[in-house]
Amino acid sequence: MISLANVSARFSNTIGVEGITFEINKGEFVCITGPTGAGKSTILKLLYMEIKPSSGRVTVEEFDSGSITRKQIPYLRRKVGMIFQDFKLLNDRNVYDNIAFALRATGYKRGDVKKMTARVLAQIDLNHRRYHLPDQLSGGEQQRVAIARALVVEPYVILADEPTGNLDPESSKSILDILINIQQKGTSVVLATHDYNMIKGMGFRRIHLVDGKVKEDSMDEPAE
Ligand SMILES: Nc1ncnc2c1ncn2[C@@H]1O[C@H](COP(=O)(O)OP(=O)(O)O)[C@@H](O)[C@H]1O
Ligand SMILES: [Mg+2]
Repeated sequence: MISLANVSARFSNTIGVEGITFEINKGEFVCITGPTGAGKSTILKLLYMEIKPSSGRVTVEEFDSGSITRKQIPYLRRKVGMIFQDFKLLNDRNVYDNIAFALRATGYKRGDVKKMTARVLAQIDLNHRRYHLPDQLSGGEQQRVAIARALVVEPYVILADEPTGNLDPESSKSILDILINIQQKGTSVVLATHDYNMIKGMGFRRIHLVDGKVKEDSMDEPAE
């Protein structure tokens, strides 16, 4: 389970989010919406424990923002996969190595690295591109590699921060389909987007932020 209990994150001269409380259960698909500056990325960074709350408490499974140590952060990051608008791939490594890197870095055995990497490459349908460098791929393909990299450690949740912000409508749709497929296989997905139209009518839970606060937490009505 994921929970934020009365969480605020203040920066030196601004407020990122204030008094945020919600829970996310295993396998949920949750959209965090709101205009630019509303606090969407701040919430994802809190869940990734890249920033700590100024007050309140964030928990992700057994990890608690109040007590997590620096040594535990890599273990948290196996539970929380993050993807970004700008992909953040390693540009001097091929697709396979971009995905395998996270596994090698966390000490998986050679045979397991091979097996796990092959499995996600098939899942995102990019096996035929495995020896390509990121700049030899389209934006949509690069984002699929980033998703595979996040997924390969079999996380509890995938956090996606404006993952389609740099993509054309067709690639955006394919990324959204992959995220839905991931959720259907039992992984929670948290999608932050300023573009509510992208997910409207899909029947997802929507947490709408305005000025760092939850304005609405509701289930979207599925379209007929
Ligand atoms: N590192 C930071 N330092 C200072 N202010 C920040 C920092 N990160 C975010 N903020 C501020 O916090 C607020 C929320 O930002 P953010 O979470 O990035 O919003 P969103 O992702 O919804 O566009 C904004 O006012 C932003 O300027
Ligand atoms: Mg943002």
